[in-house]
Amino acid sequence: VWSNVPAGPPDPILGITEAFKKDSSPQKINLGVGAYRDADGKPYVLPSVLAAEDKVISERNDKEYLPITGLGTFTQAAAVLAYGTDSKPLSEGRVAITQSLSGTGALRIAGAFLARHYPHAKEIYVPSPTWGNHIPIFRDSGLEVKTYSYYDKKTVGLDFEGLKKDLKAMPDKSIVLLHACAHNPTGIDPTEAQWREISDVIKSKGHFPLIDNAYLGFASGSVDKDAFALRHFVEEGHQLILCQSFAKNMGLYGERVGTFSVVCADKEEKARVDSQIKILVRPMYSNPPVHGARVASTLLTDKKLNAQWLAEVKGMADRIIDMRSTLFDLLHELGSKKKWDHIKNQIGMFAYLGISPEQVDQLAREHHIYLTRDGRISVAGVTKHNVRHLAESLHKVTAN
Ligand code: LMR
Repeated sequence: VWSNVPAGPPDPILGITEAFKKDSSPQKINLGVGAYRDADGKPYVLPSVLAAEDKVISERNDKEYLPITGLGTFTQAAAVLAYGTDSKPLSEGRVAITQSLSGTGALRIAGAFLARHYPHAKEIYVPSPTWGNHIPIFRDSGLEVKTYSYYDKKTVGLDFEGLKKDLKAMPDKSIVLLHACAHNPTGIDPTEAQWREISDVIKSKGHFPLIDNAYLGFASGSVDKDAFALRHFVEEGHQLILCQSFAKNMGLYGERVGTFSVVCADKEEKARVDSQIKILVRPMYSNPPVHGARVASTLLTDKKLNAQWLAEVKGMADRIIDMRSTLFDLLHELGSKKKWDHIKNQIGMFAYLGISPEQVDQLAREHHIYLTRDGRISVAGVTKHNVRHLAESLHKVTAN
């Protein structure tokens, strides 16, 4: 039956883990997928998550289906976390929101919603580069994917002029995907002043912002600081879509906890959008899973656990920042002639090394270090035990 089905390539990110697992070297390091590891390189379940889970289990809840749009206490608290306690659209009751299967699921709802209902365009512009999965998500949703300038190879920084130029050159009312903070894969974010300018250009062109927020709290360690771009855009009156993930900042990866929300003009519009979200979600997966949402809801609403969680998010962000400095210092100590400042300047889970795909292959082949072929490393996988091997290997493959 399936003789016409061609073999496809492995996933550019999750496929790295498969290659890593096959390597028997004790020195091997997986810096592919963005999943936080503790100081000993082990998967990390946040103590606040364990405590919230204990609380949820002690409640002996039933296992009934959630509503199509998920657990209301969770989505409300998640919206307040992202949009802020003094958010106008929230207090005016004009944010349509649904629980999603983490960030990817939220993006998939966004793609489907835009493809079906956005009246002005069937294309979406994503930064170049962007998270590898963005492109198939939007394509499979029925949108055409185009790119705008983002990364400047020469400076290993933001191509701000190119970005603005491209935003201005797009047709009016284009859909534009923005990474709220901790841009994946580059770790390069606009400054607050640059975000203000981006918002102005988007407004003057009437573009529609779709904001992917997978790393709230993970970039700087402060939720409010990382929420700057989103909240600024909302204050400026953009009616945007937000996709929110709790995979990284709560470490709830496999629980698939996220939200999809639409800032509407008024309550009446919100009610219509809500009804269409339900019509989209019901045939996709009916309704979302309950356990992770209960855990996240507890972390967001229980005062004591919330404070503990925020401190733990900061702890993760700080360890990553610390590993960036250590890697940078070691490269210098080893006598690398290359400029590695970007490792320290970039933010969030990833560092974009600015090395070639061949150098990436060499790191895997000769040094048992696995990363995506675009030269991205998950700094969350770097520890004091493996950082020297990483620095030495990186120095070797970039020495000439
Ligand atoms: C990543 O970019 O590594 C993460 O967002 C995980 C994923 O699903 O790709």
